[in-house]
Amino acid sequence: MSDGKLEIDKEREAEILKAEAELYPPSPETLEAARIKDVEAFYRRSLDDLAGFWEEQAGTLEWRRRWDKVLDESQAPFYKWYVGAKTNIVDNALDRHLKTFRRNKLALIWEGEPGDTRTFSYQSLHREVCRFAGVLRSMGVKRGDRVTIYMGRIPELVIAMLATAKLGAVHSVVYGGFSTEALADRIEDAQSRVLVTADGGWLRGKTVNLKQIADEAVQRSGYVEHVIVVRRTGQEVAMEAGRDYWYHELMSLPIALPRCETEEMDAEDPLFILYTSGTTGRPKGVLHTHGGYQVFTSSTLRWVFDLKDEDRYWCAADPGWITGHSYIVYGPLILGATSFMYEGAPNHPYPNRWWQLIEKYGLNILYTAPTAIRGLMRFAESWPRRYDLSSLRLLGTVGEPINPEAWRWYRNVIGGGRTQIMDTWWQTETGGFMISPMPAVPLKPGSATRPLPGIVADVVTEEGKSCGPNEDGLLVIKRPWPGMLRTVYGDPERYVSQYFSTFKKQGWYLTGDSARKDADGYIWIIGRIDDVIKVAGYRLGTAEVESALVSHGAVAEAAVIGVPDEIKGQAIHAFVILRQGVPVPLEEDLKAHVRKEMGPIAVPAHVSIVPVLPKTRSGKIMRRVLKARALGLPEGDISTLEG
Ligand code: WT7
Repeated sequence: MSDGKLEIDKEREAEILKAEAELYPPSPETLEAARIKDVEAFYRRSLDDLAGFWEEQAGTLEWRRRWDKVLDESQAPFYKWYVGAKTNIVDNALDRHLKTFRRNKLALIWEGEPGDTRTFSYQSLHREVCRFAGVLRSMGVKRGDRVTIYMGRIPELVIAMLATAKLGAVHSVVYGGFSTEALADRIEDAQSRVLVTADGGWLRGKTVNLKQIADEAVQRSGYVEHVIVVRRTGQEVAMEAGRDYWYHELMSLPIALPRCETEEMDAEDPLFILYTSGTTGRPKGVLHTHGGYQVFTSSTLRWVFDLKDEDRYWCAADPGWITGHSYIVYGPLILGATSFMYEGAPNHPYPNRWWQLIEKYGLNILYTAPTAIRGLMRFAESWPRRYDLSSLRLLGTVGEPINPEAWRWYRNVIGGGRTQIMDTWWQTETGGFMISPMPAVPLKPGSATRPLPGIVADVVTEEGKSCGPNEDGLLVIKRPWPGMLRTVYGDPERYVSQYFSTFKKQGWYLTGDSARKDADGYIWIIGRIDDVIKVAGYRLGTAEVESALVSHGAVAEAAVIGVPDEIKGQAIHAFVILRQGVPVPLEEDLKAHVRKEMGPIAVPAHVSIVPVLPKTRSGKIMRRVLKARALGLPEGDISTLEG
């Protein structure tokens, strides 16, 4: 923020001012169908007695032993929720449904990119999870062990996550679009002995060599003893005897029993680690736990998407990101919902793929990212218009601010002008939705509206004063919530310094976003205040991409920034200084190197070779100057520039 304001920030400002005047109240039908009609009263009640409110929410779930205390703040910011309670998230996500009619209800409808389909009832999903838990157990996986999972959007990803949790082990899912270095770093940080992966994955008619990438990562990291490989594409892969096993072969052995006891856990025991990018250095392992997370994901999903038993719900994210963890896997399963999952990309082979799927399965809710909406908006309206999308009841978006133009297109063209749009603001760290409308809330396009019940969010100055209407400030969360991260895996100091040191005295959680609140209390997210870049909604740290560049033999130093991109929101622009006396590499070679180390999402759109990088006297790269340079804008005050 102290970086000053650029032209591009002013664009968002103009957008906000215009959209602030537009209001979209829910239709009478939407209001009639909404579970929570008096949102005001619900919100007020939650704040009157925060602990009582979260206790009531927890009461909707099954616990093996109830808590002695809802919230323990004695070691803040290391908060504890539902202290003393015994549970396992799998009790609520699967086991309890077997005692009801949901036993035979569909939990998951899946379609592969080539058009193959599979479905799982709660009963059959439970059986597969038990069998795979048996397999993992036979490989020595037990309470507290970390299992790394690396594959595409296939049902086995969900099965592997749930099986790990069932045993009380901790899953670390690495997004299938990441590559060697990213996977190796994450395996190493988590010290996983077991890796679950696939031979490959389908993407836009081609296959991704997941197993080959996994092999290289395993070699680099040196912790993995067993690799379990799901056969998805059938492509030829190398299998190392004594280390690698086929999933389907293991699942046909007597160790894969259809029943497997669910381990009893403390509410505060770790459930998973999910790596995400921060300001500096390596990605952080955000740690979530069984108890608070199950309450938070299921409550927020019920409020925001108002799931009904007869709904078919589609969260089009990847299970490898927090959106998928919370709102493909855990949230919907805890609520006993029917979810749809699709393996491929929205526009392959044609930009009708999603609309075809909505019609084919009669889906009622679609939850996706602004980048996907903008990508599909490029194509003629005749693509969606050819399909019957009348089953859609609610739409949702997440990951970055949605520009009002895309918002209106989404609502009118996809939602037929009927559907409200749930613009959900949250983070890997928050575990679930924090600022979001519910169906009965009047909307303004581009605003995530207001904090959800139980969430105390505010926009403040650097000194901690609440900002006035339309004044830019820092978005903070002033009270703990059950879904919050508990620590950074293996690095509690980083947890404190990253999130709780800016407003230490007040004990507020720093989100890393800047925002403003309008006169109606609606929150408008402006963007990150740190060195995090959002490319197509994916969160990347400048440091990670820079270190991938510097690992190329010809690169001495690198700095990357985000520049505006019409479809992806932001794209990466890299500046590199070359080593002396090496042949000058082609821009394409540098890009290919990043692709190999980090994955396609981290590949810079532009690489500029430069003789020096602008730095402050203390040696910090001045990204503001680079940004202005990349955009051909005035560079502003450079008086602190080195040399
Ligand atoms: C960052 C968190 C939470 C799932 C996906 C992203 C940005 C997220 C919104 C939104 C404006 C948003 C923020 C946030 N962000 N949702 N609705 N409107 N910005 O999780 O990768 O941890 O990224 O995404 O900048 O800090 P994540």
